[in-house]
Amino acid sequence: MAHTTTARPRIFSGVKPTGHLTLGNYLGALRRWVEEDQYRADALFCVVDLHALTVEHDPARVRRLTRQAATLFLAAGLDPAHCTLFVQSHVDEHARLSYLMECTAADGEMRRMIQYKEKVARESARGRSVRLSLLTYPALMAADILAYGTNEVPVGDDQTQHVELTRDLARRFNQRYGPVFTVPRATPPPVAARVMDLQDPLSKMGKSHAEGRGIVYLLDETDVVRKKIMRAVTDSGSDVRYDREERPGVSNLLDVLAACTGGKPEVLAEEYTSYGALKGAVAEAVVEVLRPLRARHAELSADPGYVDGVLRAGAERARALARPRVDAAYAAVGLLPPA
Ligand code: TRP
Repeated sequence: MAHTTTARPRIFSGVKPTGHLTLGNYLGALRRWVEEDQYRADALFCVVDLHALTVEHDPARVRRLTRQAATLFLAAGLDPAHCTLFVQSHVDEHARLSYLMECTAADGEMRRMIQYKEKVARESARGRSVRLSLLTYPALMAADILAYGTNEVPVGDDQTQHVELTRDLARRFNQRYGPVFTVPRATPPPVAARVMDLQDPLSKMGKSHAEGRGIVYLLDETDVVRKKIMRAVTDSGSDVRYDREERPGVSNLLDVLAACTGGKPEVLAEEYTSYGALKGAVAEAVVEVLRPLRARHAELSADPGYVDGVLRAGAERARALARPRVDAAYAAVGLLPPA
C-alpha cells in the first residue's frame, strides 16, 4: 500500500559569519528561504559561527558579523513565526555531535574534500599552516545537519561534496549503531539564481573573498551599488546576447536583472542594444530590491533587544529538537547515559 506522509520536510541551512552578506547570498539562497522554504517546510536557518573559527579570525568581527547576518535574515523576511533562526554556538548539540561524526569519519575522506585541499594549497604557498578544525569542518557540518533529522539542505554546488559526505556518515553510523539519523539530500538552487562576481564572471560572488569591486554587499550604499554595477566587466563584442559560455559578463548581468524583475534573461537581452543601457537597468533593479531590505535592517538594528529575543527563542527550539537525537546517538555508540 502506498504510504504517504503529511509531515513537512525539515530544512537546515547555514551561513558562516566570515564576511558581509552579498547580493549573491540573497538572490541565490536567502530569497528562496524567505519566499518558499519557510512556508512549505519546517525550516531551520543558522548562523554557523563555530565554522568561522576554522580560519584566522578577529573575535570582534565574528561577533559583529553574526549579529548582522541574523539581522539581515530578518530584514529579508525570515519570519520567526514560521521558521527557526538561531546561532550555532548557542546550541551545544552541534559540538557534541561533531565529535561523534569525527569518530565516524575516516581521515582520508576528510583530506579528500576539495575545499580543504584548495585552502591548504593556498596557505602553504604562503608558508602558512591551516587549523586542524579546517580538516574536521565537514564533521561539524554533518552534525549541524544530522542533529535535526534534516531532509533537505539548500546549498550551492561548492557545498554538495560536504553534503555527500554527510550522507555517507549518516548511513555508516546507522549501519554500525542502529537507525538514529535521517539521510539528507542537497537541494541546489536553479542555475539562474547563481550570481557571479561582477569583475570575474567565471567565479561566484562570494562573501569570503577579499573586499571586492565585483561584489555587491546587501548593505552597500546605493551609489556604491550603482558604481559597482556600472563598472562590471562585460565581454568583447558589443551585442547584448544571453550566452553563459561566450558572454559570461553580460549573461551574469542579464541573470541578475531577471532575478530582480522576474523576467527571462533571453527575453530581456532583446530589450537592450548597448552594455551601458543594460548596466543602468541592472543597477536600478538591484537598488530597488535592496532598498526595503536596507530600511528594515536599519529599523531592526535600532532594536537589538528584539533580535536577541528572536535568537534566544530560536536556540531554545533548536535545542529541544536536537537534544533527543544527539542523546540517542551518544547512547547508541556505547556512552553510558547519565543517571
Ligand atoms: N559550509 C557551509 C558554507 O561554507 C556553511 C554550513 C555549515 C552549512 N554548516 C552547514 C550549510 C549546514 C548548510 C548546512 O557555506
